[in-house]
Amino acid sequence: MADLKVLGISGSLRKASLSMAALRACNELLPAGMTLSYAVIGDLPLYNQDIFDAGLPEPAKRLRAAVSAADGALIASPEYNFSLTPALKNAIDWASRPPNQSWQDKPVAVFSASAGPMGGARVQYDIRRILGQLWAHVLPRPEVFIGSAQSKFDAQGKLTDEATRKFLTDLLAGFGTWITRMQKK
Ligand SMILES: Cc1cc2nc3c(=O)[nH]c(=O)nc-3n(C[C@H](O)[C@H](O)[C@H](O)COP(=O)(O)O)c2cc1C
Repeated sequence: MADLKVLGISGSLRKASLSMAALRACNELLPAGMTLSYAVIGDLPLYNQDIFDAGLPEPAKRLRAAVSAADGALIASPEYNFSLTPALKNAIDWASRPPNQSWQDKPVAVFSASAGPMGGARVQYDIRRILGQLWAHVLPRPEVFIGSAQSKFDAQGKLTDEATRKFLTDLLAGFGTWITRMQKK
C-alpha cells in the first residue's frame, strides 16, 4: 500500500475520552504504509458566520489544512443524546464552508465508542448522512460500534478487548483499500 496519511478526529474533547483512546489504539493496528496523526478541534470557536466572514481563525485554518492534506480522515466519536457531540459537528461545519470545502471527495472512515450497549449506532448514521451530503466518500463497511466502551479499556486508556482490536484492525485495512480505490477516480 502506498504511503497513506490519515487524520484522526475524536468527537470527544475529554482528556480520558474513550474515542480518543480507541484512536490511539489504532496507531498499533495500522496496515503497512499507513500513518495516523491527530486533529485538535477543542480550540475551535463555536461556528459563527460573522467570525468566518471576518477571516478564518487559526484553529479553523489549521483544521481545514489538515483535512485537505490528509489522504483520509478517521472519525471516532461517542454518541450524545442519540446524535453528534457539539465538538464534532462544529469541526465538520468549520471545514465544510466554501471555497475549497475540505470534505469534498475525502475518503472517511467512521467508528463510534459509547457507553450504551449499541456503541453509538445512531450517531454513526448521522455522521455518515452529514458527510455524504458534503461529498465525502464514507467507507460503508466494516462498521465498528464499541458498545459498553468503558469496559473495554483499562484505567490508563489502553484497549484491553481483543475483539475490538480485531474489529479496528479490519476497519483500518478496509480503509486503506478504500482510500486507494477512491484516489484512482
Ligand atoms: C451529553 C451526553 C449525552 C450522552 N448520550 C448518550 C447516548 O445517547 N448514547 C450513549 O450510548 N451514550 C451517551 N452518553 C454517554 C457517553 O457514551 C459516555 O459518556 C462516553 O464515555 C463519552 O465518550 P468519551 O469517553 O469519548 O468522552 C452521553 C454522554 C453525555 C455527556
